[in-house]
Amino acid sequence: MQIARTISEIRKYVAQARAAGKTVGFVPTMGALHAGHASLIEAAAKRCDYVVASLFVNPTQFGPGEDFEKYPRPFEKDAHLCESHGGHAVFAPSADEMYPRKNLTWVTVDKLTEPLCGQSRPGHFRGVTTVCTKLFNIVGADVAFFGQKDAQQAIVIRRMVADLNMPLEIVVCPTVREPDGLAMSSRNQYLSPQERKEAPVIYRSLQRCAELLDAGERDAAKIVEEMQKVLGQTPALRTEYVSILDAESLERCDPIRGRILVAFAGRLGSTRLIDNIMVDTTAK
Ligand code: PAJ
Repeated sequence: MQIARTISEIRKYVAQARAAGKTVGFVPTMGALHAGHASLIEAAAKRCDYVVASLFVNPTQFGPGEDFEKYPRPFEKDAHLCESHGGHAVFAPSADEMYPRKNLTWVTVDKLTEPLCGQSRPGHFRGVTTVCTKLFNIVGADVAFFGQKDAQQAIVIRRMVADLNMPLEIVVCPTVREPDGLAMSSRNQYLSPQERKEAPVIYRSLQRCAELLDAGERDAAKIVEEMQKVLGQTPALRTEYVSILDAESLERCDPIRGRILVAFAGRLGSTRLIDNIMVDTTAK
C-alpha cells in the first residue's frame, strides 16, 4: 500500500502505474471509512487496475459551527481498510498541502446546488466542487466513484464533469445500509445509543414512500405528508426537509413522473443525517 502525503508523491505513484499500462480509479473521501466507502473502493478495484483513495477532511465545505474540528480522523484504520478492500494508494494531504494560500479560485455549479442541502449549508457545494476539481487534477484518474448516499453531491459532480469536459467518468454506487436500514455514515458514530436506536425511522419513511409509489400514488404532497407521519413517531428527530424532486434537474415534480429523488435531511440530537432513494416511476 502506497501512502502519499504530498501532491508530488501521489502524482509520482499514479505516473508509475500509468507507465505500467494500468487504468486508474479514484475514490475521494473524508476518511473515517466504513462499509459504504469500502464498497466504492471495491467497485473501483473491480473496474480499474490501480485504485487511489483520498482521505482529506476538506475545510472549505464546512460552514461555521459545523463539525470540521470534531470530524474523526482515524488514519491508520482508514489506510488498513482501504488496503483490505483493494486500494493501492492513499492520498492523505494536509490542509496546507491542498490550500497553501488563500483560495481565490472556486468552481460553482448553479441551480442544482440551490435546493435540499444547498438551503441549509450555504457554500458547502462550492467547497465540494472545488476540492473535487483539485483532487481530479492531482490524481488524474480515468474513473471516480461516488455514493448514492450523497445523491445531490453525485448529481452536482456529474454535471460539473460534463459542463467542464473533465476527462474522467463518474460512477455512482448504491447506498450501503446497516441491517436495520440506517444508511452508513461517518457521522453515525456521533449518535447516542438511544439516538442510534431511533435513526432507522428515516429509512422507514423512505420505504413508506416506495410503497405508496408502488401502489400508484403520484401526489407528491400527499406522499410527503405520509412520510412525515412516519418520521413523527420519533419526536427527537428534527426534520430539515423531505422533498420529492426530479432526479436530474432537481426541480419540483408534482404530480410525480419519471425518475425522482426522494430526499431527507434532519437532526437527531446534534447529529445531521441525510438519506434518499431514487425511484423510476416510468415503468410502474
Ligand atoms: P465522505 O462523506 O467521506 O464520502 C465519500 C464517498 O463515500 C461519497 O461519494 C459518499 O457518497 C460515499 N458514501 C458515504 N456513505 C455511503 C454509504 N452508506 N453507501 C455508499 N456510499 C457512501 O462525500 C464526501 O466525503 C466529500 O464531500 C468528498 C466528495 C470527499 C469531497 O470532500
